[in-house]
Amino acid sequence: MIMKKIDVSTSINGIKLPLCIMNASGVLCTTDQELSNLLNSCSGGVVTKSCTYKPRKGNVSPRYFEWNTGSINSMGLPNLGINFYLNFLEKKEINKPVFLSISGLSIEENYFLIQKANGSSKVTAIELNLSCPNLLEKEDMLSYNFYKISNFIENIFKFNKKPLGVKLPPYFQDTHIKNIALILNKFPIFFVTCINSLPNGIFIDTNKESVVIRPKKGFGGIGGPIIKPFALANIHKFYTYLRKDISIIGCGGISSGKDIFEHILCGASAVQIGTQFMKEGISVFRRLKKELTFILEKKNYLSIDNFKGKLKVFQ
Ligand code: SIN
Repeated sequence: MIMKKIDVSTSINGIKLPLCIMNASGVLCTTDQELSNLLNSCSGGVVTKSCTYKPRKGNVSPRYFEWNTGSINSMGLPNLGINFYLNFLEKKEINKPVFLSISGLSIEENYFLIQKANGSSKVTAIELNLSCPNLLEKEDMLSYNFYKISNFIENIFKFNKKPLGVKLPPYFQDTHIKNIALILNKFPIFFVTCINSLPNGIFIDTNKESVVIRPKKGFGGIGGPIIKPFALANIHKFYTYLRKDISIIGCGGISSGKDIFEHILCGASAVQIGTQFMKEGISVFRRLKKELTFILEKKNYLSIDNFKGKLKVFQ
C-alpha cells in the first residue's frame, strides 16, 4: 500500500511555516526560557509576548484563572521590553518564522516599536496587537475605533517595510467586520489574527461569592473552548470580506485537532494556541499536529488547502 504524505505546512501570505500551528502571543512566550522552548518545539512559528518600549510588570495577581471550559486573564502586558526580544533573537539560531508581537501604550509608541522591529533581520513579521483588553491606563481599544485605526494604519505604511499583520478582538456585528475589512484592504497588510480574548467578562467562584482575578474588579479577557464559536464566526466573515492575499491566523478555543480543522474550514491559514498551551505545555503542538494529520488522512485531504475556507452553508 502506498502511504499518502499529509502536508500540514502552510503559507501566511508567502511566509512559509513548516506546521500550521503556533502559540498565541501572551502564553509562555515572555522569557528567554519560554521562547527557547518554543524555538526548540515543533510549532510552526514563534510568537513573542506583546511588548512595549519599557519592561512592564503588568497587573497585580491573581490575574489568570482557568476552569474546564475557559480562562480569564487580566495580565496587563507583563513583558521584558522590546530590546530584550530583539537581543534574544539576535543571539539565537532562528529555524522558523518569528512573529514579534507589539502593543505600544500609545500610537506614537507603536510607531517607534514598528520602526525598531524593522531594524531586525531576525523578525520575520510583526503582529500588531490592537486588542489587549486589560490595560488599566488605557480603556479604549484601538480596534473598536474605526476612524483612529484607519489613520493609524495609513501612517504605519508610510515607513514600514516588514510583513505586518494585526491582532483583532472579536466583533459581533457583520457591519463592523465589513468596515474593518474595508479599511485593512486598502493597505499591504499580510495577515489578520482573530480573535483575541472576549473583553470584559467575569468568572465567579460561587462558594466564595467572589470574582477570581484581582485587577479591574474581576473583569478580564475570556479565552478557551467557550469562545470558539465567536472565533469561527469572525474568521469566516473576515475570510469573506478581506482581500484574498491577506491570510487569516485563527485563534480562540482550540484544544483538539478537530478545532483546528474547523478554524481552517472557516478560512484560517494557520492557528494559534492560547489557553490549551497554558494548560498542557509545550507538548501540545506535537499532539495537535498528530490529531490534525489524522483527520486529514481520514478525510482524504493531502493538505490544508484542500478544505481551507470551504465551509458549507445551507442554501
Ligand atoms: C495581557 O497582557 O493583558 C493580555 C494581552 C492581550 O490580550 O492582548
